[in-house]
Amino acid sequence: MDRTTAAGPAVPRSAAPDGTDGSDGLRGRTVVLIGGGSGIGLRVAHRVVAQGGRVVLGGRTAARLRTAAAGLGGAATWRTVDTGDSASLAAFFDGIERVDHLLTTAASYRVGPMRELSEEDAASPFASKFWGQYHAVRLAAPKLARDGSVVLMSGAASVRPVGPAPAYVACNAAIEGLGRGLAVELAPVRVNVVAPGTVDGHQWAGRPAADREAAFAQYRRDALLRRPATEEEIAQAVVFLFTNTFTTGSTLYTDGGYTLR
Ligand SMILES: NC(=O)c1ccc[n+]([C@@H]2O[C@H](COP(=O)([O-])OP(=O)(O)OC[C@H]3O[C@@H](n4cnc5c(N)ncnc54)[C@H](OP(=O)(O)O)[C@@H]3O)[C@@H](O)[C@H]2O)c1
Repeated sequence: MDRTTAAGPAVPRSAAPDGTDGSDGLRGRTVVLIGGGSGIGLRVAHRVVAQGGRVVLGGRTAARLRTAAAGLGGAATWRTVDTGDSASLAAFFDGIERVDHLLTTAASYRVGPMRELSEEDAASPFASKFWGQYHAVRLAAPKLARDGSVVLMSGAASVRPVGPAPAYVACNAAIEGLGRGLAVELAPVRVNVVAPGTVDGHQWAGRPAADREAAFAQYRRDALLRRPATEEEIAQAVVFLFTNTFTTGSTLYTDGGYTLR
């Protein structure tokens, strides 16, 4: 039976006598990772390929994507795309036949106090992180498998601001609302949100050392688990949300207990 056209609810493909759902997870599935040339997205890519899936990596820099795909072997392809450019996003999805799962970590924005940021910088989290993901889902929707899923990326700042950065805080909270709204609209396709705390990985490695050390020190003070996350820990949460067949409309805070204190 063709999963994309079957009528009725999407159900796990088989039931196993050992109490598991019997599905074969990501085997043979196509997972689109916009931002997958580095960081969390690239760690997700490695997990998908290790579980027998295929990945399509997207990003703005061909050299980064080529290197990332080469490290993943024959199960990876890549296409350049800028999530801030709707024509570029449309061309990206035109070249993809089928989407089983989608994650968009691609985002470029400025974070800071309302009283200091320019109008353009204040708008940048919504312009890039919110609308970038919204339009990626919109363009992927016609190609999404009925038993597939979308994972949106927010951040634990949605619930507990790290410092004065109100537009960034509001953007992450809006993405969590978007996840609930899309879960309703796209069902039985599942839509969930991952909300990481501070991650010791590629994004922070590209920022000034003093800022990074201050952020990590604050996180060691404030999170219950007394450290930032690894990219692997966030990637594991994403793969859980791709593969758990009864979770939709949820936000998973992979934040080491940061939002509880
Ligand atoms: N790292 C953290 O501490 C943390 C915590 C909470 C939430 N997050 C969220 O996680 C996401 C970042 O993921 P990450 O930590 O894995 O960072 P990352 O390694 O910097 O990954 C971002 C990727 O997106 C691509 N990208 C950026 N802007 C793009 C655009 N407009 N169009 C297409 N691709 C674009 C980048 O490649 P190119 O520059 O080559 O395009 C890069 O490969 C953001 O949404 C961030 O808010 C991160």
